[in-house]
Amino acid sequence: MNKGTKVQLVLFAFVLSVLSCTQKKVEPKNVEISSLKNSFKNSFYVGSAINGRHIDGSDSLGVDLIRKEFNTITPENIMKWMHIHPQKDTFNFDQADKYVALGEMEKMFIVGHTLVWHSQIADWVNEVKDSTVMASLLENHITRIVKRYRGRIHAWDVVNEALNEDGSLRESLFLKVMGQSYLEHAFKMASIADPDAELLYNDYNLTNPEKRAGAIRLIKGLQASGAKIDGVGMQGHWNLKGPSLEEIEESILAYSELGLKISVTELDITVLPNPWDLEGAEVDQNFEGSEFMNPYPDKFPDSVKLKLAKRYEDIFKIFLKHEDKISRITFWGVTDGNTWLNNWPIKGRTNYPLLFDRQYRHKMAYDSVMQLKKN
Ligand code: XIL
Repeated sequence: MNKGTKVQLVLFAFVLSVLSCTQKKVEPKNVEISSLKNSFKNSFYVGSAINGRHIDGSDSLGVDLIRKEFNTITPENIMKWMHIHPQKDTFNFDQADKYVALGEMEKMFIVGHTLVWHSQIADWVNEVKDSTVMASLLENHITRIVKRYRGRIHAWDVVNEALNEDGSLRESLFLKVMGQSYLEHAFKMASIADPDAELLYNDYNLTNPEKRAGAIRLIKGLQASGAKIDGVGMQGHWNLKGPSLEEIEESILAYSELGLKISVTELDITVLPNPWDLEGAEVDQNFEGSEFMNPYPDKFPDSVKLKLAKRYEDIFKIFLKHEDKISRITFWGVTDGNTWLNNWPIKGRTNYPLLFDRQYRHKMAYDSVMQLKKN
């Protein structure tokens, strides 16, 4: 081999080794960030309700947490009727557009909340007394909103809270004017506007046997009418003791037997006393500022931290046991600092119902849920 060929060979070997090194460097590292969405990615989506300060980015730490931990979002307020459709001919889509864009940027499962609900409704709707007029304005409301986000909002809470605690239909404005046909009408309009969206009936206390029986009647009625309903949203505004684990499990099984997917849509676990538990307590009695009703204004005691962690662990064990029936678990809020439970049912309390604290740090309850997936 002459000198020139030798030099060429050495150079060739050098180039090869450099190439293989760079190739190794660009190979993605097989390290997955530890997060709720990654831990449960083979079981169900995990998400949270997000507020206006997340959508406009002013709560940037909150947005960071949402991006890191969750793969589904629900708008806490901005898509409710009074905000999105404040006048008969006025729709405000600004915030909803930004909300959907945020979810798309992160490739999330995007939820719409909520199309037909008696609460947070625009005043002008209350004036409608005629059933045909109500039917056409429901059609317009649902069609305009659902079509705008067709294929982009993946699931809709079509009807929210149509039931009383005893399982009968709530005397809402819609029931009064249209009778129970409003339920079927709402679901039919939504599925015409987006045939591929997942359509849910959403309510609280769906674990209570009487209300559950009512929900089953409502769902069977919808199915018999030919309306498309895909899922039930069990809100999940629960406390340290109730509902019992058995009630949660029985409910998951009962709704799933109807052929529906279960979503837990608004999970939070209050750790504060409930005015309705106090015997003889008048709900409109004023508890604001009462130390008894607001026992942890400065610090979350370790003993209660433990109880909350255990309660979340027990509940998630049931969710995991039935992961084939559950499509999504959504927390109602991101941190304890922005939970609605600081102001409901009593204003100005300090509650601790979520997995992240007021400093955006994860809590013991987060660890208790996460360790379920590490075993
Ligand atoms: C709550 C929001 O969290 C609050 O900010 C608002 O003031 C009232 O509504 N069931 C629902 C949610 O379906 O839309 C409610 O959200 C909580 C109860």
